[in-house]
Amino acid sequence: HLTFVDAAGGHHVISGVSPGRTLMEAGRENGISGILVDCGGACACATCHVHVEPEWLAELGGPNDLESSMLDLEEALQDNSRLSCQVPLTEAMDGLIVWVPRR
Ligand code: FES
Repeated sequence: HLTFVDAAGGHHVISGVSPGRTLMEAGRENGISGILVDCGGACACATCHVHVEPEWLAELGGPNDLESSMLDLEEALQDNSRLSCQVPLTEAMDGLIVWVPRR
C-alpha cells in the first residue's frame, strides 16, 4: 500500500503498489487532491511535488539534475522533496508515505 497525506491532513491509503506506474499516476488515479500534473508527467512543472517520509528516501534514490532544478523553484522545497512523476514504483515501496504540500 501507499499512503498519501493531503495538505488538509487527510490520509488516503491506496492498496497495492502497481510496479511500472509512477507515484504521480498512483496519486492521480486515486483522486488525491493537490497532485496537479500540469505538464503531464514530463518533469517540467513541479505541480506533482510531494514530501517523502525520510526513511524512504534511500529506497527511492535521489532526484536527477533536471528534477532538482525544477524542485529548486518550489516554495515548499525540503530535503525530502521529490516530483512524484519521477518516482517509478517498485514492490519494495510497499508502505511508502508521502505528504502533498499546500499550494
Ligand atoms: Fe509536471 Fe511532475 S507532473 S513535473
